[in-house]
Amino acid sequence: MSTGTRVAAGDTVAVGSRRARTRAFPADFLWGAATAAYQIEGAAFDGGRTASIWDTFSRVPGKVVNGDTGDIAADHYHRFRDDVALMAGLGLSAYRFSLSWSRIQPGGEGAPNVTGLDFYSRLVDELLAKDIQPVATLYHWDLPQELEDAGGWGSRVTSERFAEYAAIAAERLGDRVELWTTLNEPWCSAFLGYASGVHAPGRHEPEVALRAAHHLNLAHGLGVQALRATLPAGARVALTLNPAEVRPLSQDPVDLDAARRVDALQNRIFLDPVLRGRYPEDLLRDTAHVTDWSFVQDGDLAAVSQPLDLLGVNYYNPVVVGAAVDGAEVERGVDGHGASDYSPWVGSESLRFVRMPGEPTAMGWPIDASGLRDLLLRIHEDYGPIPIAITENGAAFHDYIGPDGEVRDPRRVEYLRSHLVAVHEAIEAGVDVRGYFCWSLLDNFEWSYGYSRRFGVVHVDYATQRRTVKASGNWYAGVIAANAVQG
Ligand code: NOJ
Repeated sequence: MSTGTRVAAGDTVAVGSRRARTRAFPADFLWGAATAAYQIEGAAFDGGRTASIWDTFSRVPGKVVNGDTGDIAADHYHRFRDDVALMAGLGLSAYRFSLSWSRIQPGGEGAPNVTGLDFYSRLVDELLAKDIQPVATLYHWDLPQELEDAGGWGSRVTSERFAEYAAIAAERLGDRVELWTTLNEPWCSAFLGYASGVHAPGRHEPEVALRAAHHLNLAHGLGVQALRATLPAGARVALTLNPAEVRPLSQDPVDLDAARRVDALQNRIFLDPVLRGRYPEDLLRDTAHVTDWSFVQDGDLAAVSQPLDLLGVNYYNPVVVGAAVDGAEVERGVDGHGASDYSPWVGSESLRFVRMPGEPTAMGWPIDASGLRDLLLRIHEDYGPIPIAITENGAAFHDYIGPDGEVRDPRRVEYLRSHLVAVHEAIEAGVDVRGYFCWSLLDNFEWSYGYSRRFGVVHVDYATQRRTVKASGNWYAGVIAANAVQG
């Protein structure tokens, strides 16, 4: 299908070798794009902002490709009006962004920073003026450095501080921001941050990783309480996870058990306490040699399992897991989104992450949209009919501006299209999906990959900060205008 095509409900067009149909989405479906503060804002030390763990980590030699940092990033802090105009041009009905804790509350405690809050207040006003619903995430991995120095997510004090910060943000923005997300992908904060150490703060402490997972759950719960106490009636509160679609390599009991262990450590460690008020027995058993979980205190799980208005699901790829052939080492045949990175730090030895067929994305991640449909169906079946939004989905490719000034990214168009079809299939099967946010609006700082990986539907030339809407951006605008996708 060509880029920018507008379709009317009922049209059929050829997709690949088969006839495709027009799949219309619900009338009030949210069409969004997502970003995160450290990845796009830049202005790292402007307006009273203090360092976060990513400012520190990105300066450690060897931690980020090319030694890149978020100091300037996409300079969104200074260009947010132009960026909102771009969003309006795409026809977005929602924009998911994160707040920088150390911009709003430098050092992570004490008085709010008016300059920092003003920035987000202006951003929200600009979005509303263009009829774009702001969706604010409180924590997208940029912990104030001072809180890390005091123990980071290994300390429950961080969870308490998070609730104070949530109240400050809600106090100032809650009159205009209706949908809030506490955390983004706490799995990454806990396991990439404290176990494999490929993300800030770069620690390799398996016990602390599990502690961190609990304290992130607790921060979510205390944060929900703080938000509900501060926000006006009608506001909605969400949590964004990156649940893995874990596929066992075979039906052999050892492979099924390997898949179960990954499912416990990546999925149920968050979904169960939040949606069922308890940690899974098998998770406690599997990790008993690492911790006795005595950091879970009386009352914590009641706080963690506050009613939730929406579950945010970030999805990139499925993972195929089996038992390692020699029974000893972790085999990382694929660098999927998350998944293999906690091993072997928390007792998941003897796992095998198996490469899937097909050409992967520039991240090395396999492409399989059926994983998104299956994941949504599984969450729906196991945890009940909770409203869901796809809060991230997208792909990195090595995009460039052609001699004619265009950025052609047909593989991203096909990635987005096939995943939207998967979302539509899940909706038809009864899953309550309320919206879709592509990752990402702009090319940005891709964590340990720096600027070497581009996820945007809008290209950023980092030398000039010039934005160019990619073919995928124009295609996405067509989907939004039609409220439908072909497939
Ligand atoms: C998940 C994260 O939330 C986001 O920050 C990251 O850039 C994308 N996935 C792609 O890796």
